[in-house]
Amino acid sequence: MVAARITVNGKETPISPAAPHTTVLDFLRERGLTGTKEGCAEGECGACSVLVARPGVNKPTDWVAVNACLVPAAALDGQEVITSEGLATAGEPGTPPTLHPVQEEMAVRGGSQCGYCTPGFICSMASEYYRPDRCAHAESDGAHEVDGEHGPNGFDLHSLSGNLCRCTGYRPIRDAAFAVGEPAEDDPLAQRREQSPPEPVATEYAQDDRVFVRKNTLAETLQLLRERPDAVVVAGSTDFGVEVNIRSRREDCVVAIDRLPELRELRVEDDFIEVGAALSLTEIERKLDGEVPLLAELFPQFASRLIRNGATLGGNLGTGSPIGDSPPVLLALEASLVLADADGERVVPLADYFTGYRQSVRRPDELIRAVRIPLPLSPVTAFHKIAKRRFDDISSVAVGFALDIEGGIVRKARIGLGGVAATPIRALATEAALEGKPWSAETVEAAARVLRGEGTPMSDHRASDLYRSAMLGQSLLKLHAQTTEAVSS
Ligand code: FES
Ligand code: FES
Repeated sequence: MVAARITVNGKETPISPAAPHTTVLDFLRERGLTGTKEGCAEGECGACSVLVARPGVNKPTDWVAVNACLVPAAALDGQEVITSEGLATAGEPGTPPTLHPVQEEMAVRGGSQCGYCTPGFICSMASEYYRPDRCAHAESDGAHEVDGEHGPNGFDLHSLSGNLCRCTGYRPIRDAAFAVGEPAEDDPLAQRREQSPPEPVATEYAQDDRVFVRKNTLAETLQLLRERPDAVVVAGSTDFGVEVNIRSRREDCVVAIDRLPELRELRVEDDFIEVGAALSLTEIERKLDGEVPLLAELFPQFASRLIRNGATLGGNLGTGSPIGDSPPVLLALEASLVLADADGERVVPLADYFTGYRQSVRRPDELIRAVRIPLPLSPVTAFHKIAKRRFDDISSVAVGFALDIEGGIVRKARIGLGGVAATPIRALATEAALEGKPWSAETVEAAARVLRGEGTPMSDHRASDLYRSAMLGQSLLKLHAQTTEAVSS
């Protein structure tokens, strides 16, 4: 096995002597690449953002921005990383480097003041700059903003939703984002998109009694999990990385599954869509391209683009958090999970998956291989996330709705709830209160009273139990108000 190494700004860099839990952020800074900053160490500020060459959705390679503070360096063995230092082009000896176009725009428009957040913004902005279909979304005359969140150059401001700045007030940063043009033809990172990204490599990076492992196939991984029931499975590390940094969590055996091809397929069959558990949320969003409207409504509200670039459905379900944002939606969609072990597979309805606080029917030697969403989809769907901030926040309460309404009658209702019990739950009593009834104000008001009584919400620093219950009821009233016109027309 070749010694673990990462190609950083074009230069092969051995991971050793970093520990198996050492983050990409610390790995880079210890090698003098101190442009990459630590603000929070938990994926909330984006100061640590770097670019990684990943399989592309519309081209062979996408430059994907990720939080370097969350990802173990060993997880990028064999991969290519670009930092803010690697974006500028070196000049002749004795002359300053030529700034990258996003750096240039940030500089001339005042997008950098103290500068602490700037390298992270630059990397997130560069990722969006190189998004292959960005310019296709630009207005043809290029003279106006498409809307408040998309520039005339097609720039999607959501790409910066994981980056915080304490100084600029954001307007100059937005000005810079909306001013960047198309990459030049001889731009090396634009050209790099035309070739395949590095293949995943098998990794066994050990130090003392701790090891980080990546196998080539699902079968090898499942065999390892059978032999090592103590192993911790990671994909994007967006949850595990926080535990490592904030709670000093150390594990003897960490197994990466994010590059396993068997977990990265997306199939549309006649009666279901199967989404690989290790596809990132960004990949799912772009591959489905609105085909599942409830998921399309979920994604922009799920953390930030930086987190979605690493986070997976398998991870969100695997942690079993009662406040994960995907379970309410997937419960409403009546999704099932395909669980794989070394002997085969079984399919478990998500409604039967959670058994207690952060517990599920999944055994330590099993992996979530895929999420299956049955077809046809219910036509009336909505995802309501109640949180203190519009983006990049944790839900106080989250509700997923999927209703079949024919001739003004609710034929079928599926409602998933998060944040009101020890596990995500279906609102079964409310579903029963709606089904077979007219989709009328009277029905909805009565059902909203039932919905307020679902679950066992608790009070914590995010919200009181009474607030959570009240928001459940309001959520159904809001859905009715939003849909009445559409249903009756
Ligand atoms: Fe804040 Fe990584 S240091 S997101
Ligand atoms: Fe100071 Fe952004 S320029 S934090």
